Amino acid sequence: MRLDQSTWYEIEAYLEKSSGIIIPTGSTEQHGPMGIIGTDAICAGEIANRGAKIVNALVAPVLAYTPAPFNMDFPGTISISEPLFEAMVVEIIEGLTRHGFSHIYFLNGHGANIAPIERAASHFPKTQFKIASWWSFDTVNTLRQEYYGDWEGMHATPSEISITQAIGRNIEPGLAKEPPEKLSANFMKQHAGDKHGPAGDHRKQFPDGRVGSHSALARAEHGQALLEAASVALAEDFTKFLEAK
Ligand code: NI
Repeated sequence: MRLDQSTWYEIEAYLEKSSGIIIPTGSTEQHGPMGIIGTDAICAGEIANRGAKIVNALVAPVLAYTPAPFNMDFPGTISISEPLFEAMVVEIIEGLTRHGFSHIYFLNGHGANIAPIERAASHFPKTQFKIASWWSFDTVNTLRQEYYGDWEGMHATPSEISITQAIGRNIEPGLAKEPPEKLSANFMKQHAGDKHGPAGDHRKQFPDGRVGSHSALARAEHGQALLEAASVALAEDFTKFLEAK
């Protein structure tokens, strides 16, 4: 059930049965030579809607404008500062809690969103929160490992591009045909949560926009399987989240 496709009467009726809502969060940023700008928002939105359908949960509109300052030297990227994004999330939570939502689940598709969402959530001690990135579910991780191993990398990943191929555009690899520079385990650890440097340096270091990800390994069939695994995992995790106090 989608919030934007519901009437207020329907939301009032939903609140009599459930106080839980899923908010998908993505980004608007470059995803390499064969990944579309909306990749993160599209993946999170689709998984949230599919997962919600399984358990009759409510899904809020996708938050697609988020922080991605490190990608600002690539045309098409739009980055919202962390304080502004955090403040927006605070006001969204205020709106939802006012209406009676007490269990708010963020289904995330962009690493840099996690820290500001956590800070925003910390303002609401009486509300239950969960923040989960779709790729971190066990069943999804198993598929990512099986399909791509180390070539999953960190950005413009074959798994996220597979999902957009399954439901949207399928773009020829072009420059992404060749594998990117492989990342060290240390680099991945230090840059987890999209902790990248200034935009100029980032583009210099990763000129085509891929960060250790071999995007060309993406397949629409993989995308279907990843969507299926992620939405089932989300449905289960959301149910568990509602049952916990
Ligand atoms: Ni992404």
